[in-house]
Amino acid sequence: MFKKFIDPVLMRLDSETWHTRAREALHLAETTPFTLKLLEQCADHHRRFADERLRVVLGGIELDNPVLVGAGWDKAGRAVKALHTLGFSGVEVGTVVAYAQEGNPKPRQFMLAPGVTLNRLGFNSPGMEAVAHNLKRYNGSGIPTGISLGKNKDVPAEDAPHAHATVAERLYDFAAYFAINVSSPNTPGLRALQDKNPLTDIVQAVNETMDSRGGRKPLFVKIAPELSPGAVDDVIEVVLDNGLTGIIATNTTVSPDIKARYGERWRNEAGGVSGNDPDYRSMATGQVAYIYRQTKGKIDIIGVGGVKDAQTALEKMKAGATVVQVVTAMRGEGTAVAGRINRGIVDFMEKEGVRSVQELVGIDVKQ
Ligand SMILES: Cc1cc2nc3c(=O)[nH]c(=O)nc-3n(C[C@H](O)[C@H](O)[C@H](O)COP(=O)(O)O)c2cc1C
Repeated sequence: MFKKFIDPVLMRLDSETWHTRAREALHLAETTPFTLKLLEQCADHHRRFADERLRVVLGGIELDNPVLVGAGWDKAGRAVKALHTLGFSGVEVGTVVAYAQEGNPKPRQFMLAPGVTLNRLGFNSPGMEAVAHNLKRYNGSGIPTGISLGKNKDVPAEDAPHAHATVAERLYDFAAYFAINVSSPNTPGLRALQDKNPLTDIVQAVNETMDSRGGRKPLFVKIAPELSPGAVDDVIEVVLDNGLTGIIATNTTVSPDIKARYGERWRNEAGGVSGNDPDYRSMATGQVAYIYRQTKGKIDIIGVGGVKDAQTALEKMKAGATVVQVVTAMRGEGTAVAGRINRGIVDFMEKEGVRSVQELVGIDVKQ
């Protein structure tokens, strides 16, 4: 239904407009039981796919399946229930910053090819108060909602710990987990915060805030695909030393060669590439495998980057990801994407005699 009727209309819109309209359409759909039911019909050929074998625990959070919506799709927390209805087990809302900011000048989101996006949104966010207001609607729904924490562009690096902690404090009650996003390429200087000392300061500030609010929730650090092995080792050390849950691998890539594959004119365009690019996907999967190997599977990894179907999801899980996230494929693959991925994972489990998702995690990496 999505591919036949909705996508052709939306395809005429520019990438960011498509995205905003799709999110607002989902927002509208979740406001009445009737439209929510209609939406359910759109998931996986008239059936939202569910199976006991898909259940998985991520940092203590019980999830119905291993497919979540990644950060950036619903930055404001407008369509959490609708996305859950479409078969995603949870949604990472954000990145959220303390006060509203516009982000970079438009146009700032481009389709390089079907399924491949370049974005330089730059943390456009309505700010944490507006997000808190939106998320209140889901109180009591039990839908696992992650919150991606960020800092406003004009906050200097030395104030980053306070900026992240401020958002964590305000949105504490709504979060199943928090993610520290220091890997967006679109806020100047942000990626330098992945270094050991500044990252430790941010992590400790967020941990202290959680302690003061009633206890620690699962906390992840999201990394860039370009991080060198040594830099990833540093992030791992920060995660282990500070009792964090794990790492989200990865954010978008700034690789000029990957951009240029879609035309020389993209080579030096600012922004990060995501979605169905084979080199980007394997960079992201490579980071998942590296983290899994280095930690011997001791921390939880969320795999993200080019997941669009069961095969690409399984690739990430077999490399060590407990769950995967989808962002760019929401457009090309449509409303049934989560259902199809979940169904495909179960088909694979049946064929291979695998009894649980957990059994799949890291099987390509284990010696
Ligand atoms: C339009 C867009 C906006 C994004 N915004 C964020 C963001 O605010 N925070 C973040 O951590 N990642 C953000 N990302 C990165 C995604 O969460 C994800 O890491 C990346 O897109 C790779 O996944 P994909 O190939 O499934 O898109 C964004 C990606 C896109 C395409």
